[in-house]
Parts: sequence; structure tokens; C-alpha cells
Amino acid sequence: MCALEEKSIVLAVSGGIAAYKAATIASLLVQAGAHVDVVLTAGALQFIQPLTFSAITHRPVHSDPFAPWAADFSGHVTLADRADLVIVAPATAATVARLALGLSDDLLGLIALSTRAPILLAPAMEDRMYRHPTTQQHLQTLTDRGAAVVGPESGRLASGAKGLGRMSEPADIVRRAQVLVQGAGRLAGARVVVTAGGTREPLDPVRYVGNRSSGRMGFAIAKAAVAEGAAVTLISGPSAIPPPAGAIIVSVESALEMLAAVEEAARDADVLIMAAAVADFRPETSHASKIKKEHGQDYLDLRLVRNPDILASVNRPGLVKIGFAAETDNLLEHASAKLHAKGLDMIVANDAASTIGADHSTATFLMADGAVRAFPRLPKQELAFEIVLAAAELLAALRRGDS
Ligand SMILES: Cc1cc2nc3c(=O)[nH]c(=O)nc-3n(C[C@H](O)[C@H](O)[C@H](O)COP(=O)(O)O)c2cc1C
Repeated sequence: MCALEEKSIVLAVSGGIAAYKAATIASLLVQAGAHVDVVLTAGALQFIQPLTFSAITHRPVHSDPFAPWAADFSGHVTLADRADLVIVAPATAATVARLALGLSDDLLGLIALSTRAPILLAPAMEDRMYRHPTTQQHLQTLTDRGAAVVGPESGRLASGAKGLGRMSEPADIVRRAQVLVQGAGRLAGARVVVTAGGTREPLDPVRYVGNRSSGRMGFAIAKAAVAEGAAVTLISGPSAIPPPAGAIIVSVESALEMLAAVEEAARDADVLIMAAAVADFRPETSHASKIKKEHGQDYLDLRLVRNPDILASVNRPGLVKIGFAAETDNLLEHASAKLHAKGLDMIVANDAASTIGADHSTATFLMADGAVRAFPRLPKQELAFEIVLAAAELLAALRRGDS
């Protein structure tokens, strides 16, 4: 039996161009056996007709908070009470702001404040609107209060531009709804910070010192942690691949930017997984203008200075820390030294030459208590699930007070 069968879902649609995709969400929910009450904001009514939804759900569609109450239907009170889950898809910037501020001047705002059901938001907006600190803060406020967020994703936006802000696919939203209704997930309620990708250490405005990390491993871990119910913040260096849906994405370039972002995000995190390839050194000077080659110049001296050690510097009781060691020689020896030097709970050791930039990886997990688990060559997504399950076990042990 599907987790959504016989469940009452409020599907709230706000006024974005992706509103048309909400019809597919409604249809998938109905096909999964859910009872779906659709709520349209005033903005949504500009984009899509109530008839579309009532035809799909075979139920009335609601918009007006002042519509007359009846003996068996008390407007937002009834909708909020009977909901097992409230999905807001698409969630516009305006709706995200309204919900974060607790404004109850429309039906969705009233339901969001009244319900005890989990709330799942699927943001959809232009890239700059999504990345704007106001929107990010509102989303953070909502996730801090327990809301789940799915997406947005990178891709083509309504304006024709490419960027981050596309609503997640209806099937992904419904899958996430299923997990929330089940209350499942081995990291349900946990806050997980994942770092991914390589850093770029600036030389001048156009050049940098970098590495070959693709971000794939960290993205796969973030995806697995989202699927296990965690609230995930993904701090990523530049990457050519699209970030996973459902995580809050923080984009950084240099190791120093990554350090600041990790310190901020880890403040109230339960788990920190550092999969990023952070440069150990950066150019001592980042020139303000482009370095020019002189006539007859054969060498350019480059002096590098040590970057701070992010993993070693973030230390808090109650935080599970997992690091990576990608080495070309003496792998387990180096990994074990790193595990202890940085006070980690676990380190994932893998062979740098065959892992960085690849789809697959071999790995050995070394635990602080001396346990060792070796894995065969696996797709990174499968390995990511193993890492997330190990993180969940470490967190559970920490909470039980195991030494
Ligand atoms: C053509 C068009 C498309 C829009 N698409 C979006 C969108 O995708 N995301 C968004 O946040 N706002 C979008 N807006 C702006 C919202 O419709 C506007 O902020 C509205 O007040 C949202 O109200 P609501 O969130 O209560 O539905 C769009 C506006 C227009 C005219």
C-alpha cells in the first residue's frame, strides 16, 4: 500500500508560472490514493483555473478565506485539522515570505499557522529572487521551524534564462511527500551540513588555483540525506553539475568562503560531512588586476600560504563529523592519521586517482572507535547512501550517550 493512500493532503498553489505543474502533482497524489484539497492563492488564480483541480481531485477548490462556513466545513480550521501534509507547490517568493512571517491574510497563511501537519515547500522563482538573502532567510526560518523544502533545481527558467529556481519535478515532490507522510527517514529531523566540490583560490580577477573535484560525491550525499529526512545545507564550490533537489544551497568559491559558510551552517547542525576538496594552500596575494607577462619572462614565482583547516576548526559537542581522505599513496595510514588529528567520528578513505571526477568510487570507512568497513567499487550515489546511514548510526549512538 502506498504511504499516501487515504491521506488528506492540502495542495496549496501560489502564483508562479510553475502553477500549471501543480495539476500534475494533484493528479499523482490522487493516483496514489490521497484525498487532495487544493488551495489557490490570489496569485495562483491569475495562472490557473480552479476547475482544472476540481476535475482532477473531485473535490471543491478553496481560495476565499471568507467563504461561508457550513456545519461540516469550517474553512481553514477544517482544512488545517484534517491535513496529514500541506504541500505548497509552487511556493513563490511572496508566499515563502508570507509563511515565514506568519501572515494569515489569506487562506494558505491561515492553514499554515493552524495545522499540525508537516509542511513541504517547493520553491519556484527566478534565480536572483531565489538567491536573494531575503528569500534565503525566509526559507531558513521555515526549515528551522520544521518545514521541509524540495528543490528548486537548476535549469531553464520561465524568463528563458538558465539558473537555480526551477520547481522540482512533480514526481520528486510526490516522492518527498510520501517520505514525510510516512514519518520515515533515518535522519528525520536532523540538520546535516554537506560540503562539495573543489575550491578556487584566486590569483587575480581572471585566474585561480583549483582542483579536479566535480562535486558529485557531496551532491550525492546531500541527495541521500534529503531522502533520509534530514534538513540539508549543501555548501558547494563551483560545479558544472546541477545541485540536488531539497537542500539549501550555499555557493562559495574559495576555502576562506567555505570556512565562513561551514562555521555559520554548523552552528546548529547535528552532522557535518566534508566531501569538498578544499585547497590546503592559496596564493599569498590575490592581485587586484590581471597579472601581465613581461617581455622575456620565463618564470612566475607563486608563493602559497596555508589555508585554515575547516574540519579541524569546527568542533562542537553533539556534532557528528565525517571527513574524506583522497590519497594516492599509503591511503589507510594517511586517513587514520587525519581521522585522529581532526577529531572526526569517521573518515571515508578513497583512492584519489580513480575517484576524483569519476562516477564510481571505492571506499573504506575508518571509525573513531577503530572499526573498519571496506566497500567494493560502487556508484557514488550508492556509496553516498552508505555514508548517510553510517552518519545516522553515529548520531543515534551520540544521542544515546555511547562512548
Ligand atoms: C508572468 C509572471 C510569472 C511569475 N512567476 C513567478 C514565479 O515563478 N515565482 C515567484 O516567486 N513569483 C512569480 N511572479 C510574481 C508573483 O506572481 C507575485 O509575487 C504574486 O504576488 C505572488 O502571490 P502569491 O504568492 O500569493 O501567489 C510572477 C509574476 C508574473 C506576472
